[in-house]
Amino acid sequence: MNILIIGSGGREHTFAWKISSSPLCDQLFVAPGNSGTAGIATNIPIDLNDFETIKDLAIKQAIDMVVVGPEDPLVRGIHDFFLNDDALHHIAVIGPEASAAQLEGSKEFAKEFMYRHQIPTAAYQSFTSENVEEGYSFLETLNPPYVLKADGLAAGKGVLILKDLNDAKEELKHMLLDSKFGKASQKVVIEEFLDGIELSCFVLTDGNNYKILPTAKDYKRIGEGDTGLNTGGMGAVSPVPFADEEFMNKIENRIIKPTVEGLKKDNLPYKGFIFIGLIKVNDDPFVIEYNVRMGDPETEAVLPRLKNDLVELFMAVSKGTLNEVTIEIDEQAASTIVLVSGGYPESYEKGKAISGIENVDESLIFHAGAKNEDGMTITSGGRVLAITSLGNNFEEAIQKSYRSIDKLHFDKMYFRKDIGFDL
Ligand code: AMP
Ligand code: GLY
Repeated sequence: MNILIIGSGGREHTFAWKISSSPLCDQLFVAPGNSGTAGIATNIPIDLNDFETIKDLAIKQAIDMVVVGPEDPLVRGIHDFFLNDDALHHIAVIGPEASAAQLEGSKEFAKEFMYRHQIPTAAYQSFTSENVEEGYSFLETLNPPYVLKADGLAAGKGVLILKDLNDAKEELKHMLLDSKFGKASQKVVIEEFLDGIELSCFVLTDGNNYKILPTAKDYKRIGEGDTGLNTGGMGAVSPVPFADEEFMNKIENRIIKPTVEGLKKDNLPYKGFIFIGLIKVNDDPFVIEYNVRMGDPETEAVLPRLKNDLVELFMAVSKGTLNEVTIEIDEQAASTIVLVSGGYPESYEKGKAISGIENVDESLIFHAGAKNEDGMTITSGGRVLAITSLGNNFEEAIQKSYRSIDKLHFDKMYFRKDIGFDL
C-alpha cells in the first residue's frame, strides 16, 4: 500500500517509523514531514489544510491510506472531503469525520455529548457575549479555582485556570467580549475544577468496535515540578503506574464503552484514535477532554510499546473489522523526554545545528521541530526532538533517555529533568 501521513511533528515521525516497518507499506509519504521522516519516507511540502493539493498528491502517488496526525484538518473535514470526492472515495482515511471531530473542535459539543451519554465529567455551563452577566453569576456559585475554556480550537492555549474570582470574571470578559482567543472564544465553557492526577487513555475505533491502547501521562508545563507556562508537552511515560486493572475497568465501563456507543447513537462516524484526557479524583475517572487524534509526545511513548503491525490495525479500522484483531503490548515501560529550544513556549531562536544524533544507541529519537538544510539537521521549532527509551520500569527507561540526551546538543537546548516525578 502507498500511505500518506499528514503532519510534521514527533507524533508523525513516530507514525512514519512504525508504518515503515510494516511489510504492507510500499511507499510512504509525509506531508509536510520533518528531518526525521525524511530519512524513512518522502516528505512533500504541503500545507495540511490545503485539501486540493493533498488530493493532487493522493492521485499522483496512488495513495491507498491517509493517516491524519493533527486535529485541525480533521475538524475542517478532511475525511469528509475524501469521502465526497469520486477520485478519493476508495482511500482509507484514519481520523473521524468532521461531525465527530467536534468532540475536540468544540468544548461545548463535547460536554453535551458526555452529559447525553452519562459519561463522568466536571459540571459546566456555557456562555456567549449575549449572557456575560450570567457567566459572572455562575462563577460566583463555584469554588475556586475557576476553569474557563474557549469553546473552539485554540492550539492548546484556550484553557485558563484562575484562583481569584475577579480575575476569572475579567478573563471571561476578555474571552467573550475582546476575542482573547479570536473566534475560538466566542463561546466559553466554565466548569467545576476537579482535583486529582491526570492521565491519558488512547482508543482506536472503527466506529463500532474498539481497542484500548496503552495509557500515558504527559508533562505539559515548561518547568520542573509542573510549574510555569503550558507547552505542547515536555515528556511522557507509558504505562501510567496508578492505572491498575481495577481503575482501567472503571475507565472502560464508565467512559470508553459509553463513548463508542454514544458515537453510534448520535450518528457520528468515527474511524480513528480517541484520546481521552482523564483525571483521577479519589478512585474515580472523569473526562477532562476528548481529542480526536493521538497525543504528542504521548505517541512517542505509546507506539514503541505496540507490537502489532500498525498498517494492519488501520486496515481493520477502515474495514470495520477491529473485533478480529488482538492488540499486543510490550510489557516494558517507555519514557519520552522532549528537547526544546531555549525560550519556548515563548519566543526562541531557530536554525541551531543539532549534533550527536548518530551517537545515540539505546534510545529512539523522534524529530519534531527539526529539518535538514545544507547537509545538517537544524532546529526549526520549539519542540525539537523527543527521546524515547524502553526499560523494565519507567525509572529505568527515563535514566536511559537521560544518558542519550547527554550525547545530544544544540545551542540553548532545554529539557525537564524530572519527568515522572509525581508517579
Ligand atoms: P484541556 O485543554 O481541556 O486539556 O485543559 C488543559 C488542562 O487544564 C488540562 O490538562 C488540565 O490540567 C486542566 N483542566 C482542564 N479542565 C479541568 C478541570 N475541570 N479541573 C481541573 N483541571 C482542569
Ligand atoms: N500532549 C497533549 C496533546 O497532544 O494534546
